Amino acid sequence: MVIHKAVIPAAGLGTRFLPATKSTPKEMLPIVDKPAIQYVVEEAVAAGLNDVLMITGRSKRTLADHFDAAPELEATLEAKGDLARLELVRASTDLADVHYVRQGQPKGLGHAVLCAKHHIGNEAFAVLLGDDLIDARDPLLPDMLKLQERTGGSVIALLEVEPDQINPYGCAAAVPLEGGGLDEVRITGLVEKPDAADAPSNLAIIGRYVLNPAVFGVLETTGPGRGGEIQLTDALATLAGMPAEQGGGVYGVVFRGRRYDTGDRLDYLKAVVRIAADRPDLGPDFRNWLAEFVPSLHT
Ligand code: G1P
Repeated sequence: MVIHKAVIPAAGLGTRFLPATKSTPKEMLPIVDKPAIQYVVEEAVAAGLNDVLMITGRSKRTLADHFDAAPELEATLEAKGDLARLELVRASTDLADVHYVRQGQPKGLGHAVLCAKHHIGNEAFAVLLGDDLIDARDPLLPDMLKLQERTGGSVIALLEVEPDQINPYGCAAAVPLEGGGLDEVRITGLVEKPDAADAPSNLAIIGRYVLNPAVFGVLETTGPGRGGEIQLTDALATLAGMPAEQGGGVYGVVFRGRRYDTGDRLDYLKAVVRIAADRPDLGPDFRNWLAEFVPSLHT
């Protein structure tokens, strides 16, 4: 069965971006002129995932508004004959079939994914975390979807990081996948945010997953882990040790393309600069300005 559902957890409070996120979801912060969440939905759709379930919470209304029609704005732009902007406004409305469920309590990423159980049912599905943006020129999900189809298990995305940089991530112990490609591995263990000294490898989990629905049963019996939260990483560690007939087996794709972290303020700034510099419309002027501005920092 072809995978067509994506889950996007978006219930976080965004405390790292206060006061901007006091009344605006962090997923709505613009990366140049587009909310971060739209890049993520566009990535899902480009991989054939047209059914998107967002796990939201309080104060997230503007998220739903963004993917809905905006009749007054559209009428105004239409009356002005501003068809280019009208198209921009309508693009996010027509993008995907977007659904919402509220998480209620912030009990962790594993709990957020469990909130998708009824919508997903008994099919494999993808999870995309909004703090990681994957450059559309380096698609990652299609490789993960293919590996899931081949193995029937679950697939995570991995990034090689400097060993002392592993702590903000889930970390994977992995072996080469028999008969697999160069960047495909089989996961033998997972630990959420280890100290560098205890990390089993330098393979960090990044925010893309393709999951066997057996993950729901496992999440239901997964107790609080690191930070007192129900961790998706812990459920995946259990799945990695389960037989394939029960939906077990976890595999990884090592990503070597362009990725932008928007999770904290410094990374967010870097992401905006890199993406703006690459834009065909703004890029040339922005790069010229940067070329003058950056040397002035060192004088
Ligand atoms: C989550 C996961 C972690 C993963 C990370 C990727 O952590 O729990 O395993 O490495 O996303 O961005 P968070 O960043 O939500 O704390």
